[in-house]
Amino acid sequence: MPVTVILGTQWGDEGKGKIVDLLTDKYKYQIVARYQGGANAGHTIVINGKKTILHLIPSGILHNNTVCVIGNGVVIDPVALMEEIKMLENEGIQITGRLFISHKAHLIMPYHKLLDSISESTSKSAIGTTGRGIGPSYIDKFSRVGIRIVDLLDRKTFEEKLRFNVQEKNKILKNLYHSQELNIEEIIEQYLHFDELIDPYIKDTSSYLNQSLQEGFNILAEGAQGAMLDVDHGTYPFVTSSNPTVGGACTGLGIPPTAINRIVGVAKAYTTRVGNGPFPTEQDNEVGEKIRKAGDEFGATTGRPRRCGWLDLVALKYSVMINGISELAMTKIDVLNNFDKIKVCTEYNLGGKEIKAFPVDMYSLNNLSCNYVEMEGWNELPDFIQSEKDLPENLLDYIDFIEKNIKIPVKIVSTGADRDKTLIRSL
Ligand code: GDP
Ligand code: IMO
Ligand code: MG
Repeated sequence: MPVTVILGTQWGDEGKGKIVDLLTDKYKYQIVARYQGGANAGHTIVINGKKTILHLIPSGILHNNTVCVIGNGVVIDPVALMEEIKMLENEGIQITGRLFISHKAHLIMPYHKLLDSISESTSKSAIGTTGRGIGPSYIDKFSRVGIRIVDLLDRKTFEEKLRFNVQEKNKILKNLYHSQELNIEEIIEQYLHFDELIDPYIKDTSSYLNQSLQEGFNILAEGAQGAMLDVDHGTYPFVTSSNPTVGGACTGLGIPPTAINRIVGVAKAYTTRVGNGPFPTEQDNEVGEKIRKAGDEFGATTGRPRRCGWLDLVALKYSVMINGISELAMTKIDVLNNFDKIKVCTEYNLGGKEIKAFPVDMYSLNNLSCNYVEMEGWNELPDFIQSEKDLPENLLDYIDFIEKNIKIPVKIVSTGADRDKTLIRSL
């Protein structure tokens, strides 16, 4: 059986964790695999009111029979990973034998986190990163000096690579940032023991995934961040340093594109963004404040308040196009309950000209305005939604309007954080 990809269609935090957890069980995926990003992600799962936030470990981990894979495209901070494993084990979740990490994945080292925070604090146009060392780690990967999980297994190579990297980073710290240099011996001592800790999880995960496909297993590929944060297709340079878009699932897991047969996009019923950069439908006013409050829009990783705005169909259509999304999961619909009127952006306007395609340049993105269609709110939702018939008429109109615009069905309707607050529509 083939691969389903679940990815974010906006600027991250769309509710991917909830949807991955839900579909893992519903369609009995045997394997859930994360394909890019790192501990910049925060994926929340709520079961009977109990919240679990995952940063690196795939969101299928709460299902005992599911194997979780961290693919080669992910950058792994071993400190964050071990903390997450411990957090889950303390909750009684079995990890050994259920979690496999690609031997090709790159490591995030202390100097990556340090360089991330220094470059952000000294830059005139900060990205507003999560400070988790993501960009600097991917820079090393593409500069071909990165340290990989496999290097941990050979102490001599690991130490050599680490010494080289720390020396190089110290030059940058001293000469560029006039900052304190790092102590090589301390880092070596701190990191050498990760070989034993990570050893039980290391695997040739691309071979494992391809073998599993041949044996007829179902695989769910879990994206982090969102298409609009993609380093190639997002609002560059205000993006993350990886490819959350669908191609990232192939390169980040080592699986062929022909194995993918279902691509589920996750979108909030409105839009949020955390960090800096263009956000056409942002409501930096009482509307945005109301959404933030109702949606509890604070980052799952950094706790930062998320910027909030109306649904942007220009961006969503673009996301559907570049990812080949076949169906949408729409989350946080309940957050719009208290709005009498709900706006949806259908096109942009730049200097009196209508723009229907998402622009890539900062000038356009910073100077455009949005044309909105105003729709009637639904004011409240029934406590139990079991079928289509339980959805208020105005909500069905809202969904219908979106579907007509983006030309794909909204198959999943999420009306609360909890796993059971979800309607899977039989379309
Ligand atoms: P992810 O990064 O895409 O997995 O999303 P996050 O976990 O960062 O942010 C989504 C937030 O919305 C989390 O707090 C979820 O528990 C919550 N959430 C998900 N779906 C819904 C929903 O339908 N309604 C409400 N009110 N909250 C939701
Ligand atoms: P999940 O998977 C929302 C944002 C940061 C910043 C930019 C670059 O939970 O949806 P980085 O640390 O990656 O170099 O930061 O990307 N960002 C996210 N925003 N959700 C995320 O992950 C994010 N991961 C990174 O806020 O604007
Ligand atoms: Mg998140």
